[in-house]
Parts: sequence; C-alpha cells; structure tokens
Amino acid sequence: MQVQTVGVVGCGLMGSGIAQVCAEAGYRVLVREVSEDLLAKGLGRIRSFLDKGVEKGKLTQERRAEVLGRLEGTTSLQKLAASDIVIEVVVENLAAKREVFQELDAVCPPRTLFASNTSSLSITEMAATTKRPDRFVGLHFFNPVPLMKLVEVVRSLLTSAESFENAVEFARSLGKTPVRASDKTGFVVNRLLVPYLLDAIRALEEGVGSVLDIDEGMRLGCGHPMGPLTLLDFVGLDTTYAIANIMFDEFRERRFAPPPLLKRMVQAGLFGRKSGKGFYDYSHEPAQPVAGLV
Ligand code: CAA
Repeated sequence: MQVQTVGVVGCGLMGSGIAQVCAEAGYRVLVREVSEDLLAKGLGRIRSFLDKGVEKGKLTQERRAEVLGRLEGTTSLQKLAASDIVIEVVVENLAAKREVFQELDAVCPPRTLFASNTSSLSITEMAATTKRPDRFVGLHFFNPVPLMKLVEVVRSLLTSAESFENAVEFARSLGKTPVRASDKTGFVVNRLLVPYLLDAIRALEEGVGSVLDIDEGMRLGCGHPMGPLTLLDFVGLDTTYAIANIMFDEFRERRFAPPPLLKRMVQAGLFGRKSGKGFYDYSHEPAQPVAGLV
C-alpha cells in the first residue's frame, strides 16, 4: 500500500494526536472537524504540543513548521476523498461512526483503507455497513498519542490478510509499536485496563483508601506512571463510562460494570481534566483531590 495522504475524521484529544503523528511521519494529513471552532481548537492543541517540544529542545523551529505545513484542516468530509487511508476518531458511539463511514464509502476510491480508533466498539459491525469490509481495520492509539508507543491493530472477521498487514506496516511507519488483536470488545489493553480502573473506583467507594492513597499505592507500589484515579481523569470519566457500558453489554461480567460513583460523577459533569474536575480539581496547581465524593 502506497500511503501519501492520511485522512483523520475528528480533531479532539485523540484525533489531533493522531493527525500530529501522521504529519510527523511525513504524510500529508487532512483532518476534519464538524465546526471551524472545534477545528481551531484541535489544530491549536497540535501547535501547542509542538511549541512545548521546541521549548524542551525536542524539535527545531524548522521541524515544527515542516510538520504543521503537512496538516490541513477542513469541515468537509468529502475533502478526505483524496486519502489513501482514513482514520475515524469521532465519539465512541456506533451510530455516529457508521454515519461517518457510510459517507466516506460514497466518496473515497475503493483502494482507500478505512480504520477506526474505537477502543471498544465492534470493527466487524462497522465494516459490515460499508462496501469494503475487507479493507477495514481497527487502529487503536493511546493517550497522549504523540508520546505513547503502542497501536493495537485490529482484524475483524472480514478484514483481508493484505489489509491487516498494510495496517500493521502503517502503524510501524508512524514510529509506533503495533500489536495485533482480534475484534473482541476492548481488544488487549482495555480488556485488562478497564476492570483495573473500575476496581480503583470501587476501592474508593468502599473506603479502602483515599484518592491519594489509591493513586500513590499504585504509582509507588507498582511503578505505574500515574495512579488509576489520575489516569481516569486523564482518559475522561465520560469516555471510561461509555467504554465500560459497551464492555458490560458485551460480556455481562461485573468486572466491566461501571460503579455507581462513576455514573454519578458523569451525571454531575465531573469528567476529569477536560472539564477541570474529576477525582482531582485542576484549578489548583498541583491538582487537589476533590472532597466529598463518597
Ligand atoms: N514534545 C516532545 N516531547 C515531549 C513533549 C512535547 N510537547 N512533552 C513531553 N515530551 C517528552 C518529554 O520530554 C519526556 O521525554 P524523555 O523521557 O526523553 O525525557 C517524555 O515525553 C515524557 O514527558 P514528561 O516527562 O513531561 O511527562 P511524564 O514523565 O510525566 O509522562 C505521561 C507523561 C507519558 C502521560 C505518563 O504519565 C504516562 O505514561 N501516563 C500513563 C498514560 C496512559 O496510561 N495512557 C493510556 C491511557 S488508555 C487509552 O488511551 C486508551 C483507551 O482506550 C482508554
């Protein structure tokens, strides 16, 4: 597969990171958001990451300009017709994703490989609604995309061997380490990570320890870069809640069931870093545990 142009649908936290690493790898990138506002916000996130990289001495001004020069934002999905591969990074909702792929299917040439960055929805189910189910894979990146080395490459029941290997090679070309996974809800990482994160919330609910005790326990006792409640705030409580519900629906196992506290926090708009408050309050520097959650 000859890739020159990558289309990215969605320029949120994950989409902007994916667009950035594709541009860093030398591809021309067309990134689509639904509104000019969201597009400006997403492209701003990339610019600020690259600016920090320059400050840290990780890249030069020239390299920054070169990467940004390969990125083009648009609000038109049709514009992505010129892509050799399209990566969908919209909300974790099957109907929304299917709508995107059906629209893309009508405008992209048959050779274009379709990929979804879903972390928990079925690749097979999405692929089956297109006319190219054999050229459809999962490419699951991790947050923060520019720093995390892993990409899960997911093969559905319908993905051809050639498309799968092309996707593995594409992930490698981004400087990432691909792992191959079959289309089982949560793939490898979330199957193990989600029950762990949910158990950390249950431990808090049951009074095993405070927010800080639980986080310090896992950070210092197990060498994790972040404690589980910090990581939940980082991933987003709304996102984790959606993933847990999808996994619980699929497996009907308690380990995937969202605990009541997670549901209440989402209802309260406590989404974590993105909303300014979750298990921690980010209006303080450093962030302070939120009192009165249990
Ligand atoms: N440009 C270039 N390099 C940068 C940079 C920038 N803007 N910002 C940071 N870096 C570099 C740093 O210089 C540093 O490099 P060195 O190791 O060479 O010094 C490295 O990146 C780490 O940066 P920091 O020291 O600033 O940050 P940190 O050490 O505190 O690590 C972290 C931050 C990588 C986020 C770390 O805390 C971590 O790994 N956390 C866990 C993240 C995680 O688990 N993510 C997965 C979430 S699950 C998911 O995404 C999937 C899902 O479906 C839910």
